[in-house]
Amino acid sequence: MRTVTKDNITDVFTSYFGEDTDPRVKEVMTSLARHLHDFAKETQLTHDEWRKGLEFLEWAGNITTPERNEFVLLSDVLGMSSLVDMMHSEPDATSSSVLGPFHISNPPALPIGGDMKRDYEGDVLLVQGTVCDKRGNPIVGATLDIWQTAPNGLYSSQDEEQDIHSFHALMTTDENGRYAFTTVRPVSYTVPSDGPVGQILDAVGRHPWRPSHLHFIAGAAGFRNVVTEVFPDDDPYLDQDTVFGVREDLVMKYLQQPAGSFPDGFDLSGKVTGEYLQVDFDFVLVDDPAA
Ligand code: BEZ
Ligand code: FE
Repeated sequence: MRTVTKDNITDVFTSYFGEDTDPRVKEVMTSLARHLHDFAKETQLTHDEWRKGLEFLEWAGNITTPERNEFVLLSDVLGMSSLVDMMHSEPDATSSSVLGPFHISNPPALPIGGDMKRDYEGDVLLVQGTVCDKRGNPIVGATLDIWQTAPNGLYSSQDEEQDIHSFHALMTTDENGRYAFTTVRPVSYTVPSDGPVGQILDAVGRHPWRPSHLHFIAGAAGFRNVVTEVFPDDDPYLDQDTVFGVREDLVMKYLQQPAGSFPDGFDLSGKVTGEYLQVDFDFVLVDDPAA
């Protein structure tokens, strides 16, 4: 079509598709163009604003590295990561939540009862539970990939003081589908806000905080992996997580346990004489239809 107008530009865009275009690509690109064009019309986007948007994307590209992906962060703070997650979550499984950029490959194995905090100071938190299928049968040999920040609020890849493996672990469930470990109580922390995404947060008067959490990827042969997080119910940022990751079933009470009650079977047994915190969290996995 030769004559392009404000009113037909979306149709003209789709008329340019090649005949062999994959139908799903066609559907997604048509919808994307329609929403972008409607967005520009609805907001009466100015040249300056459009240019600012392009500069934003250029800046995000320039500061993106394998350790820091500003586009993923943008998707997170816009709620896109969580929305896509929720649209495809399995109703019978533990809810999924954002992966975030700080997961590492090949975390060190931690035996059941092991201690993830090593020499770090902080409130001792005992974390335990089971991994089960949706009928409640324990899954033997399920894996839990676990990570969190150090007490300074930084993940190992953000902090030169930490060994890359610090606060990362891989645990395998026992013959009862059980897992258990100790760590320090996680802290609330801010997502990186010194780049373009930080400017967006600033511009709309938003803070960069996330409620404290433990990250997990639970998996087992024949089951769908669940990427998730567990939050304490008393965190001040629970109702305003800047990446929208909180789900009802992931919010747990961290129980204060009395001095002298620390159980046997842990690396720290006999070493924790005072009060400590405990959270019991069970994971539910559903069959992987592709398996
Ligand atoms: C995190 O929880 O590690 C995280 C999630 C999204 C953006 C940044 C960090
Ligand atoms: Fe995190």
